[in-house]
Amino acid sequence: MKTYVVGNWKLNFNIGEASIYLHKIQKKLPNYRDVEVVVAPPLIALQPLSLQIDRHKMKLSAQNAFYCDYGAYTGETSFNQLRGLVDYVLIGHSERRYIFGEDEKMIGKKVEAAVRNKITPILCIGETESERTFGETRDKLRDQIMSGLRNIAIEDADKVILAYEPVWAISSVKGAKLAAPDDVADAVKIIRETLGELYDKKVAEAVPVLFGGSVNPSNAGAYLTVPGINGVLMGGSSLILSEFIDIIEIAKRVRS
Ligand code: 13P
Repeated sequence: MKTYVVGNWKLNFNIGEASIYLHKIQKKLPNYRDVEVVVAPPLIALQPLSLQIDRHKMKLSAQNAFYCDYGAYTGETSFNQLRGLVDYVLIGHSERRYIFGEDEKMIGKKVEAAVRNKITPILCIGETESERTFGETRDKLRDQIMSGLRNIAIEDADKVILAYEPVWAISSVKGAKLAAPDDVADAVKIIRETLGELYDKKVAEAVPVLFGGSVNPSNAGAYLTVPGINGVLMGGSSLILSEFIDIIEIAKRVRS
């Protein structure tokens, strides 16, 4: 399985800035066969960047999309419209869930629509600070996986990526804390057990699981060596060229 290094640019960079930044990344980036480098720019930059990107070196992801392919849905963009532009799409990011009110039902439909349109969904899951304090992490992760993947048949289950992003560890969240590698290991165990229950052992082992939450060059190595973790998903660090490149190099070293 490849190791994934995914940068979520969130609402940062206009088209020109995004293009310059992509140019700089590609200039610095060797072609690492077993490290899949992915960036998720703002929607408006996807089309121009899709013409600029060197797909041997890296891939594009959308940050969101809507589950209907077309129709009366003002302001939305469909997975169908993103076909050919992106290889991946983030779904159910905590900012979509908690700022924009996306519920489990909608997230499940989005995962299904992504797979239907041959775009790999990166389904983001994770508990909040208070859920963690009340010992609800296991139930929360199980619920999010069960409903996020409820429309995905076993034949398609290996077309999905999961990203464990505890909300309390995301750098932009007030009072964010660093997750200990042991916290991540516990969560990965829950995630793989749940996949095993929902599908089977083979799927439980085959689905890549990423970790996200204040990942930077000084802690990336520790997270990437947690058993069962197959990559990292960054916000803040993906916006700083030297940090993003450092993390890609750490991923390469961890692999070899
Ligand atoms: P940070 O790396 O800034 O904590 O953001 C994580 C995240 O939300 C990536 O999707």
